[in-house]
Amino acid sequence: MKDKIKIDFPTEIIREGEVKVLVPKLSAFVKSPSEYAPSKAPVFYNPVMELNRDIAVLALQAYQRSLNRAISVCEPLAGCGIRGIRFAVEVKGVREVVINDINEKAFQLACYNVRMNELCERVVVKNDDANFLLSSYGAPRKRFDSIDIDPFGPPVPYLDSAIRALRNGGLLILTATDMAPLCGVRSKACIRKYGGKSLRTEYCHELAVRLLTGSLAMTAGKQAMGINIMFSHSADHYVRVYAIAKYGAKRADENIKNMGYIIHCMRCSHRESIEGLSPIKLPRKCSECGSKISFAGPLWLGKIFEKSFCQLMEEEVDKRVLKNGKRIRKILALIKNEVDAPIAYYVLDRLCDELALPVPPVKSFIRALREEGFEAFRTHFNPRGVKTNASAMLIKELLRIVITREAVSFK
Ligand SMILES: C[S@@+](CC[C@H](N)C(=O)[O-])C[C@H]1O[C@@H](n2cnc3c(N)ncnc32)[C@H](O)[C@@H]1O
Ligand SMILES: [Zn+2]
Repeated sequence: MKDKIKIDFPTEIIREGEVKVLVPKLSAFVKSPSEYAPSKAPVFYNPVMELNRDIAVLALQAYQRSLNRAISVCEPLAGCGIRGIRFAVEVKGVREVVINDINEKAFQLACYNVRMNELCERVVVKNDDANFLLSSYGAPRKRFDSIDIDPFGPPVPYLDSAIRALRNGGLLILTATDMAPLCGVRSKACIRKYGGKSLRTEYCHELAVRLLTGSLAMTAGKQAMGINIMFSHSADHYVRVYAIAKYGAKRADENIKNMGYIIHCMRCSHRESIEGLSPIKLPRKCSECGSKISFAGPLWLGKIFEKSFCQLMEEEVDKRVLKNGKRIRKILALIKNEVDAPIAYYVLDRLCDELALPVPPVKSFIRALREEGFEAFRTHFNPRGVKTNASAMLIKELLRIVITREAVSFK
C-alpha cells in the first residue's frame, strides 16, 4: 500500500488516541536536538499537539451530543491527517470528514492513513489550498457542521472562508501559534493580523485568546453571524478558541458590544476593561498612580468559556483513556472555575518580585482575598495566576499582610 501511494521519506507508525498513523520519523530530519523537528520534516507532524487534538475530540463530541444528530467536519490544514482521522474514529455521530493539505506529500500520507484506518467511506482527502477548498463548500447544504483550522501561525487568513463554509449553528475551532504578536512582542504584526493591539503583560495569554476571538467576531459580523465562545484554552505554545456561529444581524450587533479595550499601567499594574470600540473613551493616565496608561485592543471582552460545555467535555474525558487525561481534567476543572471570573489575571511571582517579597501559596492568597470580600479565582492560563476584582494597589497591600502573617505563623 505504501508503494502505491509514493511516500519517499523516513516514516514510522505511531498510536494516538484510538488510531494508528504513519508519520514522518522526526529524528531523521534534525541534526541537533535544539532544532524544531515538526517543521523540518517534509510533512508537518507535532507529537506535542496530542493534548490539543485530545481536547478537540472531547469538544467535538460535546458539540455532537448537544446537536444529537450526525455531523460533518472539515480540517482544511491537516498535515498527515491524524486529527481528522481521530475525529472519524473517536467522535460518535461523525458522518463525514474532509481533510485537506496543500502539500502533496502531506496529501499522500493522509491518503495512506485513511486507508490504513479503513475510513475511505467516511473520510475524503483533498490536496487544495485551504481557502479554495473552504470556498467550494460555501453554498447552502454544502456547509460543514464543524471546521477545525489548525495552522502553523495565525488562523486569520482562513477565517473569512471558514465562516462562509460553516452552517448555521456550526462549531468553528481555531488554533493560533503566533504567540509573539499575540503576546505583545511583535506589536505591529498583531495589529495587522488581528486588528487589535496586544501588550507585554503577565496576562498576555488571555489577551491572545481575546484578540483572536475579537478578530473572529468582527469577521463573522461581516457575514451577519454572531458567535458564542463555548471553550478556549492556552497551552504550551498556542491558544485555541471553540466558537458556535449563528446567523442574525442582531446577534452580530450584540457581539460588537462585547468588543473593547483593556487599559494597563506598566508602573503599578492597574488594569481595567473599557467597553466599546471608540478609542475616545480611553483614559491617558492611570487612575491609581497617574502614570501614562497603555492599552490592548480592540479585543473581545465577552465570555470565553461556557460552563455547560465544559461539563459535557468532562463527561467525555471520563469515558476515554487518553494519554493526557489527567492534565485535561485539571485544565477543565480550572476553566469551569474561572468561567465568570474577572478579566486579566495577576501573577503572584511577578508582583512579589516587584515588592521583593517571597511568593505565598496561590491557595492562601485566594483565601485572603475572599476573606476581604473580593472575588478570587485560579486560572488555567497560569499556575501562579489569580483573577480578582481587587485593585492592584489592594492586592499588593494584602500580599504584604499575608507574607508577614505567614512569617509570624512559621515562628
Ligand atoms: C500545523 S500543520 C497541521 C497539523 C495538523 N492539523 C495536526 O493536527 O497534526 C499546518 C498544515 O497546513 C498546511 N498548509 C499551509 N498552508 C496551506 C494552505 N494555504 N492550504 C492548505 N494547507 C496549507 C501545511 O502543509 C501543514 O501541513
Ligand atoms: Zn498606575
